[in-house]
Amino acid sequence: MKVVEWFAGIGGLSAALDGQAEVVCAIDHDESAHLTYRANWPHPARRWNVAHLRARQVPAAELWWASPPCQPYTVRGERRDLDDPRAASLIRLLALIAEVRPRHFALENVPGFEGSRAHLALREVLDRHGYHVRERSLCPAELGWPNKRPRFYLLASLDPLAPQPPLVRVPRPLAAFLDPLPDPALCVPADLLARYGDALPVTDLLHPEPQVYCFTGAYGTSPVYAGSYLRERGAIRWFSPEEVVRMLGFPERFRFAEGTDRRRRWRLAGNSLSVPAVAEILTGIPVG
Ligand SMILES: C[S@@+](CC[C@H](N)C(=O)[O-])C[C@H]1O[C@@H](n2cnc3c(N)ncnc32)[C@H](O)[C@@H]1O
Repeated sequence: MKVVEWFAGIGGLSAALDGQAEVVCAIDHDESAHLTYRANWPHPARRWNVAHLRARQVPAAELWWASPPCQPYTVRGERRDLDDPRAASLIRLLALIAEVRPRHFALENVPGFEGSRAHLALREVLDRHGYHVRERSLCPAELGWPNKRPRFYLLASLDPLAPQPPLVRVPRPLAAFLDPLPDPALCVPADLLARYGDALPVTDLLHPEPQVYCFTGAYGTSPVYAGSYLRERGAIRWFSPEEVVRMLGFPERFRFAEGTDRRRRWRLAGNSLSVPAVAEILTGIPVG
């Protein structure tokens, strides 16, 4: 199957496909995302702005996977929905779906996308063009992963969708995802601890089943509502970007592009996808 990876970021979809389909085009306008994508995946990657894209630029593919910007549907992004300029790329994508009618289409977004005007506009296009549609929310914690990342997923196909097998939960201990020798620079300074105290969500490795909250692109920049901290050997520290991508299910060989500073690595990781959750959604695509 040929695939277009829209809003490709660092390649969460490519990781979930694990070589079982051919990504013919990966599109993202961000330079750091593009460099890290190219450092990991051999697929043709384009630094294009989706909002200005024409159908003839997009290679033919059976599956279009899209993870459009989520800020228009979050409280932090003020939930401006289709009025947010960051929704322009999704509006353009809807026009491209109507024009090209890819055989299968899938979308991932934050829970706040559900019921938004953007969601209704997407459903309207898919219904008008005869797609079978399935929607669900899924969190990697349901699959036994130690991180919470509830997300809305939509899968659409011009063919009837394949039945989704029941979820299998395989517990994975948080300790398995940690750096063996964490960088001392990850320790949270005393003044930040004093200022935010109990507001900082701290995961304790001594807890019987330690879990972390959803990492966002603001992790490392915004002290709260952006992801968890770790209490380890009596100290409190940030999780490294490498630990975050491991918890998202990226393969051990994954690397950020050389020269990507830690803040950018946190941003790229926090914006990405839960690989096992995406792989689960992909099982609904009809084959043959
Ligand atoms: C939620 S993230 C998706 C991340 C990605 N799926 C991954 O696995 O890392 C949204 C991505 O869309 C990109 N993006 C936002 N607006 C865009 C636009 N107008 N054109 C192209 N890419 C855009 C951002 O740079 C970001 O990488």
